[in-house]
Amino acid sequence: MAQDNIDEIKSKVDVVDLIQEFIQLKPAGTNNFKANCPFHHEKTPSFMVSRDKQIWHCFGCGEGGDIFGFLMKMEGLEFPEALRILAKKAGVQLQYQDPAISNQKTKLQDICRAAARFYHKVLVDHPKAKVVRDYLKGRQMKDMTIETWQLGYAPEAWDTLNKYLVQKGYNEEDIFLAGLSLKKDRGVGYIDRFRNRLMFPIWDIHGNVIGFGGRWLGEDKEGVAKYINSPQTLIYDKSRVLYGIDKARQDIKKEKLAVVVEGYMDCISSHEAGVTNVVASSGTALTPEQVRLLKRYSINVAFAFDQDLAGDNAAKRGIEVAWQEEISTKIIRLPQGKDPDELIKKDPAQWPAAIAKAQSIMEFYFESTLAKADLDNVEDKKKVAKILLNIISKLADPIEQTHYIQKLAGLLQVEEEILRDKLGQILNKQKKPVSETKGDDKPAPKYQDRFAVLAERIIGIALTAPVNLTYIIDHLLPEEIMEDKLVRLYKNIIIHYTKKQVFDYKDFIKTMAVEDSDLAAYAEVLSLRSDHDFSEEEDEFIKQEVVGGVKDLKRHSIQVKLVAIQQKLSQSEKANDKEAIDSYTQEFSKLSAELNKIS
Ligand code: UTP
Ligand code: MN
Repeated sequence: MAQDNIDEIKSKVDVVDLIQEFIQLKPAGTNNFKANCPFHHEKTPSFMVSRDKQIWHCFGCGEGGDIFGFLMKMEGLEFPEALRILAKKAGVQLQYQDPAISNQKTKLQDICRAAARFYHKVLVDHPKAKVVRDYLKGRQMKDMTIETWQLGYAPEAWDTLNKYLVQKGYNEEDIFLAGLSLKKDRGVGYIDRFRNRLMFPIWDIHGNVIGFGGRWLGEDKEGVAKYINSPQTLIYDKSRVLYGIDKARQDIKKEKLAVVVEGYMDCISSHEAGVTNVVASSGTALTPEQVRLLKRYSINVAFAFDQDLAGDNAAKRGIEVAWQEEISTKIIRLPQGKDPDELIKKDPAQWPAAIAKAQSIMEFYFESTLAKADLDNVEDKKKVAKILLNIISKLADPIEQTHYIQKLAGLLQVEEEILRDKLGQILNKQKKPVSETKGDDKPAPKYQDRFAVLAERIIGIALTAPVNLTYIIDHLLPEEIMEDKLVRLYKNIIIHYTKKQVFDYKDFIKTMAVEDSDLAAYAEVLSLRSDHDFSEEEDEFIKQEVVGGVKDLKRHSIQVKLVAIQQKLSQSEKANDKEAIDSYTQEFSKLSAELNKIS
């Protein structure tokens, strides 16, 4: 049964370990962890993960669930894919391949994996690939590296891959949808997309092949691109891909730094040289999605561009994206005309040295702008001021701004005040409407009235701090809570407690999970929220919270009743129903007296 698989996977993959692969968790209490929620923008952590309960929940945006839910949400996956990934992680053999499990995405991944194997085998074994093997030897690439990165060769022929995959049982339309073939211009049928190219399989963070980059191996030809990549497919989205992320992510976390290079070869050479916190952006400016992917592992990113490219707009756009995503960004300077691969091949020690010397963005912009200017020339001076003030205007910190204005004033030998005026003009032009200013842009939480929230808090405390349970049970009646689900939960708590005269949370959840799993899950969330809100508070504080909260709930429930009676009373008055008027009046004063007793 699939459920057995799910349970086994859950028992083997710890929710804390899983989430920690994506975001940094900080301990909160004994076996809980917290973090800023990855699903909405916030500055104080409301995202909680519980090792005991094996669940996560964000009390800011209301998202929550188990390992499967987390992975689905984080990666935008369907359940079958999440199941497959987590099964692999847990070393659990899925008992049967449900047709739903081999859904379209996984089918395309299978095809890409088969293609990667095919290309690799051709490269390693096929006589026709000898030139390619020699080419790689010429570039000093080790066999081990070819193995690790599953490099391959797409033969110079029309449909070798397509034929091979069809013979393996895949359907031509699916091969096309995986991005591996092209529809023939004329006539019917398909031809291979990649021909006579050195193939770089591209993996997602879970190690699934999702696409390819292919380097042309023939002579330079008009209309033939040096590299081509898989097109956008159901599984390959260029704006989300970072080449090497599957191999680099743990080391990025360890080193607290992600190094971004441009080329596939740069990335591979770096890993080969032992610098493994490196990914490749594949030649274009980093997208916000890519930056966010990196941010899961580290908030420090260093870009390696050669001197020429540093002036390139694409590169600068990438830097600005990183900046906007509040990532700390540095620039690795390389000797003119060299990429990391060439640098490493020439002298491997120079690469880590260059990384260690990475400059802050401001240093980099100052240096690269000044390198192109003649400061004795007034036009150049004006140009430099304009470029650098524009960048300074993007700094959020006024102290930093002042620092760089002073530096610029010194360099240009102009009054600081003049530069400040100019900066003011730039800032005025950039001013955004107030609504766009950044803050904790919590998605509007689902509407819940104050008393519903309060009731949940009290029941949460009942679950997590049973010393308060007797007080709560003695003072708060289930009917004094207005929410059905919570009333049901509370009643079950009372029953459980009354039966055993103690309250054992784990035992309670176990029982509830059998009787009403929905309610058990609800209890787990309330208890986790209680940990989130109160784990660092003194017992006395919690007790006060309970006493005050119970009073408020009682008062509220009476007030609700009073309002209803008042309505009925005025109806009976209209109808001149003396009997009813009397009885409602009595009830009204009885409840009013009760209300007075509470306050
Ligand atoms: P480069 O032209 O710098 O190539 O492009 P490279 O990585 O140094 O490759 P070698 O050393 O000449 O073999 C850098 C990256 O830009 C992307 C590729 O990802 C490449 O690795 N690119 C380049 C393209 O996508 N298309 C192109 O036509 C060229
Ligand atoms: Mn290169």
